[in-house]
Amino acid sequence: MKTENTVWHPQQITKQQRAQQKGQRPCLLWYTGLSGSGKSTIANAVDDLLFERGYHSYLLDGDNVRHGLNGDLSFTDQDRVENIRRISEVGKLFVDAGLIVSTAFISPFASDRALAAEKIGEAEFIEVFIDTPIEVCEQRDPKGLYKKARAGEIKHFTGIDSDYDVPANPAIHVKTAEADIKQCAEQVLSFLAERGFISSTKAV
Ligand code: ADX
Repeated sequence: MKTENTVWHPQQITKQQRAQQKGQRPCLLWYTGLSGSGKSTIANAVDDLLFERGYHSYLLDGDNVRHGLNGDLSFTDQDRVENIRRISEVGKLFVDAGLIVSTAFISPFASDRALAAEKIGEAEFIEVFIDTPIEVCEQRDPKGLYKKARAGEIKHFTGIDSDYDVPANPAIHVKTAEADIKQCAEQVLSFLAERGFISSTKAV
């Protein structure tokens, strides 16, 4: 708990120095979309491309983080809010470390995504909407969860009995039903290059 006896220690090495050392501008790619929409897949493909080109990145993935840091959280609205709050905090630390960070969480509520954007800072927060129609997600059903949700075996399932707020104005709008994984990943890379987070000339 933060008290009057908790003092913020400034760090010797600045975020700018860390970024400069890595030859990139740090940022947070905030992937949002339904379960099965392809958030983790596209985020991993982007990470691969960044790694190949010599950039420094890290991916925080919903399912993985729920195995550890957020292992105590359920899928009630309240716990989803806490899930996203913690991820925003961790994401901010990773951005501070000079990294290009990706977070892949459903993050269904626009209000939470707005809080995350505020915490990270608009200039470094990039909302990536992985826009896949629910019918396609349900058909893919990689983890068999839609089937279970339809059978009533999973409660509060996003898109079925829990809401998903469609992003009103995402920085990057990826339509996975219309392009393959590589094309989707390249769309994200092009955005990063256009905005100067990475260099458009630094080759493999
Ligand atoms: S979030 O809503 O809090 O952002 P998060 O991305 O961490 O969700 O976790 C979603 C993943 O948890 C899904 O991809 C799915 O594998 C699994 N899951 C288990 N139960 C649910 C549920 N009730 N609703 C959505 N996803 C669920």
